[in-house]
Amino acid sequence: MVKSIQRVAIIGTGTIGASWAALFLARGLDVTATDIAPGAEARLRQYIDQAWPALERIGLAEGADRQRLRFTANLAEAVASADLVQENGPERIDFKTALYEQLDRLLPAEVLIASSSSGLTMSAIQAGCKLHPERCVIGHPFNPPHLIPLVEIVGGARTSEATITRVTAFYDGLGKRTVRLRKEMPGHVANRLAAALFREIVYLVSEGVLDVADADTAVCWGPGLRWGVMGPSLLYHLGGGAGGIEHFFDQFTGPLTAMWRSLGDPVITPEVRRLMIAGVHKETDGRSLEALAAQRDEALLSLLAARAGESARP
Ligand SMILES: NC(=O)c1ccc[n+]([C@@H]2O[C@H](COP(=O)([O-])OP(=O)(O)OC[C@H]3O[C@@H](n4cnc5c(N)ncnc54)[C@H](O)[C@@H]3O)[C@@H](O)[C@H]2O)c1
Repeated sequence: MVKSIQRVAIIGTGTIGASWAALFLARGLDVTATDIAPGAEARLRQYIDQAWPALERIGLAEGADRQRLRFTANLAEAVASADLVQENGPERIDFKTALYEQLDRLLPAEVLIASSSSGLTMSAIQAGCKLHPERCVIGHPFNPPHLIPLVEIVGGARTSEATITRVTAFYDGLGKRTVRLRKEMPGHVANRLAAALFREIVYLVSEGVLDVADADTAVCWGPGLRWGVMGPSLLYHLGGGAGGIEHFFDQFTGPLTAMWRSLGDPVITPEVRRLMIAGVHKETDGRSLEALAAQRDEALLSLLAARAGESARP
């Protein structure tokens, strides 16, 4: 019998760890968090209090309670009774390999260790684990994890299938939308897709085709609205009309591949950087980061509510 996951340890309570902690508490789990930064506990509790109204709107699980958060600066104490560790420490391979080697010695074999790492591979991170590297896996969220459902799951060379199955069931059970990568890729997948689009935005802006605000409008009031509902491939199935995706390829293979050949490969020179930054500040029109984040989260909550109850497929 595999034990169900009731107690989670959070290592690192910065941007991502704090948001994971809020989500796990809202889903009715016990959370013990650890961080070495002075004032980390107060910042974490403040973050969770700020996130809680949104989590209430999404719907709290039975027994969900902010009182079920414990904080300790001591790593061994933080992970002592955990069923799963969600690690959100600094994105440095030397830090992560040393930490995983230590966790491997501290934790019984059945405890899963998931890393939020955006760019490191699990094969590299688990390299120092001498006892049970098979329970280590990447569980990569999107900021902020308490609102954005996607989690990318990818194992390293020594991760077991049983770990992938268990961690997938855990995240799915929390209401996350998981995708599994069958190979390790730098940056995993979703950030690569976002990077491909951003590369073209930087190219178009640097070529003087349009400014930053108009590029953002072209995405978020056009295809971006549809992408919040269905993925590009399914949308092209609809774009093919009655003939669906087959007709789409009949009709658009030529124009699409011609466009691919003209896509940009910009270099972020000091001038391009200045242009992009000035464009973003012009677009914000004096709105603060807090105001923009609130606007983003409000619209996200409405979109999530509109899509609540849809099956796991897009
Ligand atoms: N920021 C994002 O958008 C984002 C998105 C997805 C994944 N990630 C990944 O999440 C991880 C954390 O990123 P972040 O943006 O939250 O970074 P961050 O700098 O905000 O947080 C890292 C935290 O780790 C703490 N820390 C440092 N040493 C520690 C130790 N020995 N023990 C415990 N805590 C320690 C720091 O004090 C800090 O609070 C990274 O691996 C990153 O790749 C980040």
